[in-house]
Amino acid sequence: MISENYLSVNDLIWPLFVCEGNNIADKINSMPGICRYSIDNILKELETAVKLKIPAIALFPQIDSDLKDENGSQAIDENNLICRTIKSIKKNFPDLGVICDVALDPFTDHGHDGLIINDIIDNDATLKVLEKQALVQTAAGCDIIAPSDMMDGRVGIIRKHLDKNNFENVQILSYAAKFASSFYGPFRDAVGSSKSLKGDKKTYQMDYKNSLESLREVALDIKEGADMVMVKPGMPYLDIIRLVKENFKIPVFAYQVSGEYSLIINGINKGLINEKSIIESLISFKRAGATAVVTYFADRIASKL
Ligand code: PBG
Repeated sequence: MISENYLSVNDLIWPLFVCEGNNIADKINSMPGICRYSIDNILKELETAVKLKIPAIALFPQIDSDLKDENGSQAIDENNLICRTIKSIKKNFPDLGVICDVALDPFTDHGHDGLIINDIIDNDATLKVLEKQALVQTAAGCDIIAPSDMMDGRVGIIRKHLDKNNFENVQILSYAAKFASSFYGPFRDAVGSSKSLKGDKKTYQMDYKNSLESLREVALDIKEGADMVMVKPGMPYLDIIRLVKENFKIPVFAYQVSGEYSLIINGINKGLINEKSIIESLISFKRAGATAVVTYFADRIASKL
């Protein structure tokens, strides 16, 4: 009667990892309970998602390492793993929302989200690849393009490029306030970029000592055409979600990232905390002001809601 916040299935976005092959469910050691699935198995998993009425999924590819190169060329191949996955999903589940990351890290042999030129991540050279990556994913049927690369100016160029190609209705969910975080470790294992990653991502992801910088990042992305903005990671950044919520009239999404998932699930599996900690963690995002939450717990929690 007095509850101020609720969580419903409508608030959940389920991230999934896809790999090549048939009938594969490859366990990710650093994320107990989470697998990389081949396309046929992703479709089986999605039957559950659709039954539970989860509105959208976010897809991440683990491509074969011999297909990775310094320019992340696979990212713009219209027959790459991610595009083939989108097509099969849309054929089988046309009403399920499909969100795709735009960033080069699953495709580069150095594990960075952008191109390295003269030893630095070259912002503007990267933009030219990102607009192509966004276009092949959109042409394959993606509903929401989610740039997670943190290059400056990418929302604007992606918006223009999609409009020019008659994809005005495709939306942009910008990872606007994305911090250079240690909590992404297990994800990098999942997409196979952790071993190869040279250096860190601090020249393009945000400094976790800052909060006002997130307002500048969000303001730029909205001006460039973002429809929704993301704060990431989640729980260590609830203050940022609140700050963005109070300063902008735009949907704010929270990403409960891989490291947060792994801490909670290991805690539960070891009996240190109980299962109810999952919903408590998800409600904290709603309390902070998030409209929706990207969480690896989506399927598990949706069945309880
Ligand atoms: C890629 C990307 C990352 C995540 C989502 N998209 C990793 C990174 O920036 O290194 C992290 C998600 C997670 O940890 O669950 N740019």
